[in-house]
Amino acid sequence: MRALHKDFGVEIQGIDLHEAALHFPQIREAFEEHSLLLFRNQHLNEESHLAFGRLFGTIEIRERHPENHEVRVSIVSNRREDGYLEDEEGSRFMHQRANQLWHTDSTFLPTPALANILTARVIPSSGGATEFVSSRVAWRELPEKVREKTRNLIFLHRYAHSRKVVSEAAANLDIVTMWPDTKWKAIWRNPVNGTESLYLASHAYGVAGMNEQEGKLLINELIEFSTDPHRIYSHQWLPGDVLVWDERATMHRGTSWPYDEERTLASICITASKSDGLDHVFPN
Ligand SMILES: [Fe+2]
Repeated sequence: MRALHKDFGVEIQGIDLHEAALHFPQIREAFEEHSLLLFRNQHLNEESHLAFGRLFGTIEIRERHPENHEVRVSIVSNRREDGYLEDEEGSRFMHQRANQLWHTDSTFLPTPALANILTARVIPSSGGATEFVSSRVAWRELPEKVREKTRNLIFLHRYAHSRKVVSEAAANLDIVTMWPDTKWKAIWRNPVNGTESLYLASHAYGVAGMNEQEGKLLINELIEFSTDPHRIYSHQWLPGDVLVWDERATMHRGTSWPYDEERTLASICITASKSDGLDHVFPN
């Protein structure tokens, strides 16, 4: 294993993820411990990507009635179905720009995510990195006064909040407004090793019981502290790379690239369950 950042993240070598089941206890152990895993040269197709994801739990389906939908990988790309590259003003770019805010995926869903498994298919000649920080380490290193103030808080999350930062139109899309607001405790405790992480995202718009302005200020302060440049691991993708990250213990963001070039990644999220500490993060 090779460290990706002094605080978190490892590259795991010598494993073919098409045979991930054979190595899963070790992979899961590394996931709990290091929060971010990199596997190179994997070239997973949809089937093997989903099979790998199922080892972690149930694959997330972002639909109002998930039972009516087939599980699929999500393609994150500026290449449209008609073959052309999306115009910078297009709706895909609104989503991409929102992805460039520090966030944790799926905090706006009724059941949030445990992990994301993202793989690169087509990479531009420069840029297009995905950046990560450990919200476990950030929580540990916060000044004691701020920790005390934050420990028992409940953050309010709304998908439209992060979209609104980018565009009013994006915030009003049905796929955004269909999710009712969610509330999560500020700290997610990992039930395997007892570590605590700040559970925060660009979707957080306020703090329960705090006035709006004060809540926003605190959220911004916490995100700023957690994402200080020295905490960032920036991943420059190569085709075939697979990154697995712990949504409970990290934040991430995309970065820009020359938009006249294609960038295509495929992603799945795994829904968190009781054994991942989900019960603890629900407000009482
Ligand atoms: Fe994301």
